[in-house]
Amino acid sequence: MKLPYAEPYRIKAVEAIKPSTRRQREKWIKEAHYNLFNLASEHVFIDLLTDSGTGSMTDNQWAAIMTGDESYAGAKSYYALKETIQKIFGFEYFIPTHQGRAAENVLFSALVKEGDIVPGNSHFDTTKGHIESRKATAIDCTIDAAKDTQLEIPFKGEVDVEKLRAVFERYPKERIPFCVLTITNNSAGGQPVSMKNIRETSELCHSYGIPLLLDSARFAENAYFIKKREAGYGSKTIKQITREMYSYADMMTMSAKKDGIVNMGGFIALNSKEVFEVAKRFCISYEGFITYGGMAGRDMNALAVGLDENTEFEPLDARMRQVAYLGKLLDRYGVPYQRPAGGHAIFIDAKKCLPNVPKEHFAAQTLAIELYLEAGIRGCEIGSILADRDPVTRENRYSDLELLRLAIPRRVYTDNHMAVIAAAMKNVMARAKNITTGYRIVEEAPILRHFTVKLEKIEE
Ligand code: F0G
Repeated sequence: MKLPYAEPYRIKAVEAIKPSTRRQREKWIKEAHYNLFNLASEHVFIDLLTDSGTGSMTDNQWAAIMTGDESYAGAKSYYALKETIQKIFGFEYFIPTHQGRAAENVLFSALVKEGDIVPGNSHFDTTKGHIESRKATAIDCTIDAAKDTQLEIPFKGEVDVEKLRAVFERYPKERIPFCVLTITNNSAGGQPVSMKNIRETSELCHSYGIPLLLDSARFAENAYFIKKREAGYGSKTIKQITREMYSYADMMTMSAKKDGIVNMGGFIALNSKEVFEVAKRFCISYEGFITYGGMAGRDMNALAVGLDENTEFEPLDARMRQVAYLGKLLDRYGVPYQRPAGGHAIFIDAKKCLPNVPKEHFAAQTLAIELYLEAGIRGCEIGSILADRDPVTRENRYSDLELLRLAIPRRVYTDNHMAVIAAAMKNVMARAKNITTGYRIVEEAPILRHFTVKLEKIEE
């Protein structure tokens, strides 16, 4: 008999989680103004809000925590991380920051000015926020295929090179500080970008004299998909693929809380000394001295180990198998999601699940609340609440896709948890046709509203 697959690790510490009753959850979600970010984590059974900062570290990472050097300047931990980043990505300069959006803040302070245009593939909300708060414009050049959730193609997160060329033709080079390629493409469903697309985007950018920035939160998962799906890469290592991906880029911002598998951390890495010199000054004002930039020495140590470990095939393979397993169960129950299963998450197609909920009622948020009520599972709306209002007209930007993201933390839940998630979705689907109303906004922030928005239920 062929032996079944098993994860290449065993578990050294566990944390208890508590189930609850539907009645309790009805009370808690109402008190949270129907915003899942407002729930106490104790009131959640399976937490799929994010895969960011929620992974389990390895024993080697915990050991590295104990030997962190907390010197204000020139800590050993800084040099350990610098060396690892140089080795993995090949960039000369690096600035640590406390997380990904801080890296964006520091780098964009140096590069983005009012009136600028920043094209890319589905900018993540903090990336878009940091562009728009500087009165610049993010232009989404993602391939149209990404919007068809049922279409199964291997690299659904790509940039449409012709759309990008049109942006470069329309605006002068001086107004385009860089192009941002997000790998994997989180907002389009954790979908990867092929090496070919990275290379072609890079060639196009450089032919117009525009630098290419890789938003790198899930770069290792992207490399895994290239290995698995792109011709010519099957026998290359994740580290070789990563080096090639970054050979086409000029700079990167990194939220280390995802593929670095640490609870907090981020960085900028780049080759331009000029940009590094300007960004350094913003780091000192916003984050801290340039050899710690918002991170404790122990955290830089754990990140150096995490980056090295998570650019090996085995941990990535275990993770992708788990996400794909959840996808397979959802297929069995007829739950529609962005196909194929993404790297870090399954994105359920809420418009298809809840066809009778009008767009003004926020279908993805409605589905997120239903799943919480069903089983205490916390997902995240990736739809029109997240999309914010148009910065000029202040109208709601109803997105083409209303998705409920079920992000899977790394090495945290077992396949039994996946089975509970799928069964809970099946139960929600059984009553979905009768759900005809959703929620309205009663309070919101002008930007990044989804974190703090307050909602009320629209009665039938
Ligand atoms: N870029 C991408 C592609 C991201 O997914 C995130 C964060 C960031 C940048 C910002 O990084 O959180 O460290 O400041 N994504 C998290 C998520 C929050 O849940 O997808 P951060």
